[in-house]
Amino acid sequence: MAAAPLRFEPFTPAHLPAVLLLESQAYPEPWTQGMYRHELETPCSHLHVGLLGEDLVAYAGFWLVLDEAHITRVTVAEEHRRRGYGRQMVEHLLRQAFKLGAALARLEVRDGNTAAIHLYERMGFVPEGRRPGYYQRTGEDALLMIKRF
Ligand SMILES: CC(C)(COP(=O)(O)OP(=O)(O)OC[C@H]1O[C@@H](n2cnc3c(N)ncnc32)[C@H](O)[C@@H]1OP(=O)(O)O)[C@@H](O)C(=O)NCCC(=O)NCCS
Repeated sequence: MAAAPLRFEPFTPAHLPAVLLLESQAYPEPWTQGMYRHELETPCSHLHVGLLGEDLVAYAGFWLVLDEAHITRVTVAEEHRRRGYGRQMVEHLLRQAFKLGAALARLEVRDGNTAAIHLYERMGFVPEGRRPGYYQRTGEDALLMIKRF
């Protein structure tokens, strides 16, 4: 069954509690409240949330540096995964980045993160390289991926 469309909003301090909860459940090295507050004050940072009704079920972001959008986060609440929301979130991000003048998007993803790698491949990202041992806690490599608009 096709997923209901998410409603997108730019990330604000009001979204912080819900984002921090999803963040702690989704990542072995979660960003802290301080880091998210810093993102809010950083002009090149573009974070967006995806809502179903009033529920925040996804969020994602990128840094825009010159013509490059560097995707920093794509997260879907565990109970809402595999329904196309990750895809909706990335499509939204890429639209935002394109509107702001990005010519390409880059990201790094944990080598063992099959779900994310599959999602990015479906969105047209291709492998560009690898950073050995990039993730300090697990020692896993980061796979670098790129998509040119
Ligand atoms: C990665 C993540 C955002 C995917 O979100 P999602 O809403 O489940 O993704 P979608 O339902 O839009 O699926 C997109 C594609 O990925 C595939 N996919 C999703 N989860 C998968 C899994 N666990 N294994 C294999 N493929 C998977 C889907 O089948 C779909 O491919 P298809 O179009 O060929 O069917 C989600 O798993 C997540 O939040 N993970 C934790 C945070 C994280 O690791 N983020 C990435 C950081 S780089």
